[in-house]
Amino acid sequence: MNFLLHHMFLLGFSDNIEDMDSWVFMGLLFLLGCWCCCFFFNNNKKVEKKFHGIIPKGSLGWPLLGETLEFIASGYTSQPVAFMDKRKTLYGEVFKTHILGTPIIVSTDPEVNKVVLQNHGNVFIPAYPKSIRILLGEFSILQMNGNLQKKLHALVGGFLRSPQFKSRITKDIENSVKPTLSTWQDMDLILVQEETKKITFPILVKVLMSIGPGQDLDFLKKEFEEFIKGLICLPIKFPGTRLYKSLKAKGKLLKVVKKIVEERKIAMERSDEKGNIEDVVDLLLREYGEANEMQSLPLDFISDNIIEMMIPGEETVPTAMTLAVKFLSDCPVALKQMTEENMELKRQKTESREDYNWTDYMSLRFTQNVISETLRMANIINAVWRKAIKDVEIKGKLIPQGWCVLASFTSVHMDKENYDNPYQFDPWRWEKTGGASVNNCTFTPFGGGQRLCPGLDLSRLEISIFLHHLVTTYQWTAEKDEIVYFPTVKMRRKLPTRVKATQTQPPP
Ligand code: HEM
Repeated sequence: MNFLLHHMFLLGFSDNIEDMDSWVFMGLLFLLGCWCCCFFFNNNKKVEKKFHGIIPKGSLGWPLLGETLEFIASGYTSQPVAFMDKRKTLYGEVFKTHILGTPIIVSTDPEVNKVVLQNHGNVFIPAYPKSIRILLGEFSILQMNGNLQKKLHALVGGFLRSPQFKSRITKDIENSVKPTLSTWQDMDLILVQEETKKITFPILVKVLMSIGPGQDLDFLKKEFEEFIKGLICLPIKFPGTRLYKSLKAKGKLLKVVKKIVEERKIAMERSDEKGNIEDVVDLLLREYGEANEMQSLPLDFISDNIIEMMIPGEETVPTAMTLAVKFLSDCPVALKQMTEENMELKRQKTESREDYNWTDYMSLRFTQNVISETLRMANIINAVWRKAIKDVEIKGKLIPQGWCVLASFTSVHMDKENYDNPYQFDPWRWEKTGGASVNNCTFTPFGGGQRLCPGLDLSRLEISIFLHHLVTTYQWTAEKDEIVYFPTVKMRRKLPTRVKATQTQPPP
């Protein structure tokens, strides 16, 4: 309640209803609301005439505010889909609402979500809040549409999924996981949510531009943290504002990344040999940098994209690792089974004195099911936002041109129609279905269709290696903590945990 009052205050409402100004303000809002309703009603009628489908039912809530407060409030509870569930019961699986300043059609229907993600005919474009659009810049893959997006997506996805890349990156991941984990036992209490970032950021920077530990990495980490603070903020840009500071940090990042790209381009031009593609900079330079003048794109395009790829890669993997630790701490039976499976692999590897291959980690069936279940329940990317550039009809529902659509993944993942006891952490459920598949439209932690996450395999590999070394070398006790779902998924107290080395090591 305090939270709601705080927001009402921020949005300009007075809590003294005797105050005359407030009444005038509320009156104006009411008139504006009536006008908005008439506008949408008339507009909707015109569109409906052309199509057989109907605009989904729903309420646009209060003038200006819409239903934003209720939407945000449900993100702070342990039932983040309460907002969606209530409307689903009232209006059906696809409904309209008005949140975060936009009238929007929400889909909690896996089949409708699939059509939105597949985006045949390119009828949907990404629709991010203004602060994100400003920070991403014009060349970002996340905002790009059409052929350039398809080409870049296929290029990056193909590289990150290739067995050669996975073979190579496995060592880098181990070299980041093992030393970081060994520092945890020396600390009294660690915050898992913070500590896991120390594992994943160096891996990401390695994947993107082959930078190892040192000054450049520290600089990039510091400025990147400053940069992403502005992704969810008011879109106001003048000295002192959050957006301004984030843009400044992006400028500094760009300078360093551009220097790296330029040096690499010069080295590439000097060398006759083509060599292996080591990282995403190499990949993009080969594709866009050295083609003939007509085809080559500015180095800014490459540098911008390197920074933009850090965004989906940076927060998501550490969050998945943290929540896996949380769910396993709360489910000792799953932890025991997973530890046994991983101990067996460790024993085999110790006996044969062979290095681990990426396929070793990925073949741990139960561990993969633990990861799938973590991703289902964590809902790290809870939904995707799109905007219809034409009128679109899906399953008899009409999405008029210009409207935003929110394809909610959380609602699908937490629906008892799709998963028995959806709030229970149950990795065994995946044994019945033979594991998670990207073609399953009721399981979309990595999205799907045209923009299916190109970092999918890399993320799973990172989480698998992290879990393997954690459970086979250490024991831990996590303090009581809870998951918060707004504005992004995280642990309220960052998951304070005590870690110590396990006594029982596999037989030599
Ligand atoms: C657990 C970890 C991760 C999750 C849950 C996740 C989830 C997602 C989702 C849902 C999308 C689709 C967004 C949309 O349709 O608009 C996406 C896109 C993307 N992800 Fe990931 N991601 C993860 C890790 C990574 C990593 C490690 C990388 C990079 C190395 C990465 C790079 C990307 C890129 C570049 C896109 C944009 C693709 C495009 O628009 O064509 N992600 N991710």
